[in-house]
Amino acid sequence: MHRCLRSAFALAPFIAASLLLAQSPAQLTIDVDHPLHSVSPTLYGLMTEEINYSYDGGLYPEMVRNRSLRDGGWEQQDWLLVQNSAAGATMSMDKTTGPSAALTNSLKLSVTDASPADPAGVRNNGFWGYPLQPNTTYTGSLYAKADASALGALTIRLVNNATGKAVATAIVPNLSADWKQYSFTLKTGAIEASAANHLELTVTHPGTLWVTLVSVFPPTYHNRPNGDRIDLMQKMAAMHPTFLRFPGGNYLEGNRLADWYDWKKTIGPLVDRPTHASPWGYHSSDGLGLLEFFEWCEELHMKPVLAVYAGYALEHDHIAPGKDLAPFVQDALDEIEYAIGGPDTQWGAKRIHDGHPAPFAVPYVEIGNEDEFDRSGSYEGRFAQFYDALKAKYPSIQLIATTPVKSRKPDVLDDHYYKSAEEFFADTHHYDKSNRSGPKIFVGEYATMEGTPTADFGAALGDAAWLTGLERNSDLVVMSSYAPMFVNVNPGGMQWHPDLIGYDGLHSYGSPSYYALAMFAGHLGDQVPQSELVGGGKRVFYSVTERKADGTLFLKMVNASPKAELLTIRLDGARSVAPTAKLMRLHAASPADTNSISEPNHIVPSESTVPVAGSVIHHSIPGYSVEVMVISSR
Ligand code: AHR
Repeated sequence: MHRCLRSAFALAPFIAASLLLAQSPAQLTIDVDHPLHSVSPTLYGLMTEEINYSYDGGLYPEMVRNRSLRDGGWEQQDWLLVQNSAAGATMSMDKTTGPSAALTNSLKLSVTDASPADPAGVRNNGFWGYPLQPNTTYTGSLYAKADASALGALTIRLVNNATGKAVATAIVPNLSADWKQYSFTLKTGAIEASAANHLELTVTHPGTLWVTLVSVFPPTYHNRPNGDRIDLMQKMAAMHPTFLRFPGGNYLEGNRLADWYDWKKTIGPLVDRPTHASPWGYHSSDGLGLLEFFEWCEELHMKPVLAVYAGYALEHDHIAPGKDLAPFVQDALDEIEYAIGGPDTQWGAKRIHDGHPAPFAVPYVEIGNEDEFDRSGSYEGRFAQFYDALKAKYPSIQLIATTPVKSRKPDVLDDHYYKSAEEFFADTHHYDKSNRSGPKIFVGEYATMEGTPTADFGAALGDAAWLTGLERNSDLVVMSSYAPMFVNVNPGGMQWHPDLIGYDGLHSYGSPSYYALAMFAGHLGDQVPQSELVGGGKRVFYSVTERKADGTLFLKMVNASPKAELLTIRLDGARSVAPTAKLMRLHAASPADTNSISEPNHIVPSESTVPVAGSVIHHSIPGYSVEVMVISSR
């Protein structure tokens, strides 16, 4: 904390080094015996929504694109005809037949000529190919029916684009005349990992068949059926997240009132999920639905921050508070009951039926998203209506408002910041003087807007500097989450930049901001000791937290200038300090430098130790660096 800026010229150490750098060393004094306030244990978490192919084509590793023919993607060539030599076939979207009330579309394949030598069928190009690994079993299923048993077997093949050869094959021997689900497995051999593959469904006899909800799934994190992509879950786990805010973001709201996130249509068997139009330009399969959000939280030990739809659409339409809004308030109550209810409740019983007997915890519910954009001012009334109903039934749930309201006191207020690095540098004291008697603060979305598709090193400096301010104010700021988290870096995959984690089908990487956040979140004490920085350049930022149980100090330092900064760190009140401190450093030669899908590890943290002389550390922070120093002190 720059609470008292005295002249840096009074400081003596490092004269030689200072002369070399034409700069006086700064002095940071940490008073280890004087905690100012506690640190929120939920300070670091994650925010998610379906954007940039975060789920479909991302975390939700379904390989079949437009699997239930619900996306306008028919025109985008998701499904194409396969006709070998003498074979003859036509394909169309049939909107009159499907396996359920939710899925009423199917792909109709009419085969006039086909034989074992010349099969006919359809292919699916997947989400930028089918990313296949060697010696791996892929779990598949589809719904189908046929007009004639003479049609024979349906052959399912994963085919390498370059060779045209199958790398895995499965057979469904017969198709019935009624809609039925067929399951299969596709096992690759000693292939090279590649995304240049596609899926083919073919027959060898004339006839007509219909298919929909075609699914091919790779192994998932913890092998959960309908689960999540392993490398992305591992990347999130390494960020030490304590909560997940879901399902959005704009994804919660939808462009029009009809496009709201209707969670009841995202639960149960996939065949009963109608899918829906998302605001980010592509259809959502809803394979990652409400239950899967909670399971994601469970697997990464994160507290759910459940955002409930509150009657606002992005095209500036809203549902008036009162009787029109009442069904949506009931929906939110039902949603909470789905998560936490027991077998004796309607929606708790539904969750148990859906395969998750244990209730989830719902400590936080956010009412809407960015309702400051509702120019009608209706949020005041909408929030009050939700607040009253939710507090009455669930008094212990913390309710989050998305913009200030007057008639009720929200427990927490969600603030969003998308700024340049310079703006963040200038705003690191944003919360220093904020009123402590109002709602707590959730910085539910923030990002330094530099870099594409993912945040560059300049963004990491901006984000890290901003986070030092949040740590220092973590009595007030109880949660923070970067947004957006994911981007599929394939052509057309991105709707918003920068993003934290980039990927294609086979690989993923963390941006410099990702590593800065992971370093910060992984090294956090539970109280903020008194401290004071005297001197130091305008672009030096720091925060310090302390673990009460053993006196370990976690010192974060950001040098956003190109020149090294000399720092003398004094630990006042420390009886014994370990002779070395651990140092993690993220550094780049330029703010424009970055990681990418082809150079994923270009900028990653390095680890070293620094000597401690009694209770003093002489340290030089290189230009363009984010550092975390772990000092064991008593
Ligand atoms: O993070 C991208 C978008 O930014 C979110 O959907 C929205 O809440 C915000 O405006």
